[in-house]
Amino acid sequence: MRSVIKTFARLLFTVLGGVSIASGATFTPGAVWLDTDGHPINAHGGGVLRYGGTYYWYGEFKTGQTYLPDCNKSWGGTRVDTTGVSCYTSTNLADWRNAGIVLAATPQDPTGDLAPGKVLERPKVVYNQTTHKFVMWMHIDSASYAAARSGVAVSDRPTGPFNYLGSFRPNADTWPDNATAADQQPAATNYLARDFHTGQMARDMTVFVDDDGRAYLFYSSEENPTMHVSLLTDDYLRPAGNYARIFIGRSMEAPAVFKHAGKYYLIGSACTAWAPNAARSAVADHPLGPWTELGNPCAGPDATNTFHAQSTFVLPVPGHPDQFIFMADQWKQWDLPNSRYLWLPLEFSSDGKPIVRWQDRWSQPMP
Ligand code: GAL
Repeated sequence: MRSVIKTFARLLFTVLGGVSIASGATFTPGAVWLDTDGHPINAHGGGVLRYGGTYYWYGEFKTGQTYLPDCNKSWGGTRVDTTGVSCYTSTNLADWRNAGIVLAATPQDPTGDLAPGKVLERPKVVYNQTTHKFVMWMHIDSASYAAARSGVAVSDRPTGPFNYLGSFRPNADTWPDNATAADQQPAATNYLARDFHTGQMARDMTVFVDDDGRAYLFYSSEENPTMHVSLLTDDYLRPAGNYARIFIGRSMEAPAVFKHAGKYYLIGSACTAWAPNAARSAVADHPLGPWTELGNPCAGPDATNTFHAQSTFVLPVPGHPDQFIFMADQWKQWDLPNSRYLWLPLEFSSDGKPIVRWQDRWSQPMP
C-alpha cells in the first residue's frame, strides 16, 4: 500500500510539479521541470529558437558545486565551473527531450574561453536563412567578469555540435551612431572612449532577428551602466559597424527583445548580480532606438522583484500574434544548478504596454 501511495504521489508530482500537457502546455513557475527522461531541465539564462516546427531551448548547463571565487567576494558573484551549453527540444512546449551539450567546455584547454574556470552565460541561438547556419552568441568572461567579451559559435544543425569561433570585444575603432562630441572626449569615467581601440565591454546579452532578416546584438557595456545594440553582418557572425548606446546610465541587464505590431520591445532587469530586482520594459520604432522606458511590466504578488526572477527571453507564440511567453530565471545564488524557470504569459494592456501577471499555474493553448 505504502509503495502504491508513493507511486501515486510521484505521479502527481510529475504532473503538477513541472510542465505537463493539457490542451497545450501547462506551466508551474518555480517548480522543478522535468525532461522526457525524468531529469530536471538544465538550461539557465536561456533562449528558445523555433525552427521547422520544433522548439530548441538552449541554456547554461549548471552542475557541480556552487562556490564563491575570491575575486568576486565583494559582490557575491558565486559560480559553478562551466560545462557548456545544453539544448532541449520540444514540439509542444510541454515535453522537452534532452539533446545534450551542444557546445562543450574544454577542460583540456585551461586558458581558452571555454575553460571550466571561465564564464559562459546567456547563450542565444538564431538561424540565418541565407547561410543556413545556426549561430550561437554568448557572454564570455574571465572568472572575475573583467574580460567582458562576446563569444560566437556556429553549426549546420540546431542540435550541434557548435563550432566555437572565438570571442572579442565588439566595435573596436568605431563610434556609436548616436555618440555625441562629448562621448568621444577621454575622461576618467568615459568607458566608451577608454575602450574605443580595444572594443567595447560586452556582458549580459541577447540577439534579436528582425522580420527583414537583420540581426542585432544587445549587450550591457561600459562597465554595465550603458547598453549597446549592434547590427550584425549578414552572416550574423560579426558586428556590422552600426551600433547605438541605449538606456544610458540605467545599468540595464538581462535583455529580452521581441516585436509586436510593428514595434520593438525590450524587457530587462537592473544590475544586482543573482539577486532579483524590478523588471523594466521599453519600446522603440527601430532596434537601434531610441528606446522609451515603459516601467515594470510585472503585476501581482512580488511584482517588485520579478517574482524572484530575472528575464532571459520572450518567446512569441506561433499562430497567436498577441501572445508571448516571458521566460525568466529564479537564480539560487548558493545552489546555482537548482535555479528554477519561470515562464509566464506576456500580454499587452489597452495602452500598449507589455504586462506579465503572476500565475501559480497556467496553460498555453497551442495552435
Ligand atoms: C547577473 C547576470 C547574470 C550573471 C550574474 C552573476 O546580473 O544577469 O547573467 O552574470 O549577474 O552574478
